[in-house]
Amino acid sequence: MRQWQFGQSNGSENLELTDVTAPQPGPGQVLVRIRAASLNYRDTLLVKVADGYTPGRVPLSDGAGDVIGVGAGVSRWSIGDRVAGTFFQDWISGRFEMRYHQAALGGTVDGALREEAVFPEHSLVRVPSHYSHEEAATMPCAGVTAWYSLILRCGFQPGDSVLLIGTGGVSVWGLQIAAASGGRPIVVSSSQEKLLKARQLGAAETISSAATPDWDREVFRLTSRRGVDHVLEVGGPGTLKRSLSSVAAGGKIAQIGVLTGFGPSDASLFPLLTKNATMSGIYVGHRDAFEQLVRFVEQTQLRPVIDRVFLFEEAPAAFQYLASGRHFGKVVIRV
Ligand SMILES: NC(=O)c1ccc[n+]([C@@H]2O[C@H](COP(=O)([O-])OP(=O)(O)OC[C@H]3O[C@@H](n4cnc5c(N)ncnc54)[C@H](OP(=O)(O)O)[C@@H]3O)[C@@H](O)[C@H]2O)c1
Repeated sequence: MRQWQFGQSNGSENLELTDVTAPQPGPGQVLVRIRAASLNYRDTLLVKVADGYTPGRVPLSDGAGDVIGVGAGVSRWSIGDRVAGTFFQDWISGRFEMRYHQAALGGTVDGALREEAVFPEHSLVRVPSHYSHEEAATMPCAGVTAWYSLILRCGFQPGDSVLLIGTGGVSVWGLQIAAASGGRPIVVSSSQEKLLKARQLGAAETISSAATPDWDREVFRLTSRRGVDHVLEVGGPGTLKRSLSSVAAGGKIAQIGVLTGFGPSDASLFPLLTKNATMSGIYVGHRDAFEQLVRFVEQTQLRPVIDRVFLFEEAPAAFQYLASGRHFGKVVIRV
């Protein structure tokens, strides 16, 4: 069977397509024929940063497919079931533990960019019945992160306003979840064209960061000088200051992303205190959150936004496309 893996030196141009022996499921394991995988910003980082780069690693945390084999003792799955893997294979529910980092798909263990893979049976989730494999493959990282942040960590309530920064995978999932739950999504993007699409998905307000670089002032104005109840903070050090200024008193900031880098922020933390606001560090979410999200999209019939589907053979081009930032929503690879 074929798989993509990181080459000897980093860079998406050095991804290698190889032929390897198909894996066999051991006790408690499930063999999945992967049909689709999706990319996240993390994958564009992992393929390029020299630090921690693992030659031979199969990339991508997000894959969906069909069960084609089960090992001894497997009770949760049968052949033919449609499943997706969880980002952290061992985080089922409850508080995060550092040991979960030892089994992060596409990071510390081989990921989804291959035709067949074995998974521990506890690390799989049944995918929504109305989703294609491509749609299901958008869920494990971006979908679960948005759900876990907004619903489980921020305690979103209908009527709440939610600030989404940019229109990538996490933000568009966040926009859709908020809109489908009776929230008031406010989207900031560098592109007018993407803001139009955000409106069509239910954004109540849109702000062009190109036309309005101090977009936090506009957030304040649009919320009658109250601020937003929740911020899905995917920007990191370069946007934190504006997120802190955008959040309402008693509001919540889910600190998710690093789009502006890993360095320190010049943001004063004083607004956090004066507003009695809460900031939570987020790393995707657990299997329970994923299963909740599946029930939610089945109930609401919400469908994820796929910008473009690449063929398996075109994987390096898919990495380059995501890194270009031209996408709206998710970029998927058909396996
Ligand atoms: N902690 C976690 O659990 C977790 C999980 C998933 C993702 N993340 C992180 O969250 C971030 C988003 O991930 P993703 O996969 O959704 O990314 P993505 O799909 O690549 O989306 C990136 C989008 O964000 C906007 N953007 C890019 N650079 C920006 C900047 N400097 N300032 C403001 N906006 C910017 C752009 O949207 P516009 O063109 O519309 O402006 C761009 O298309 C990444 O840092 C990722 O590592 C963290």
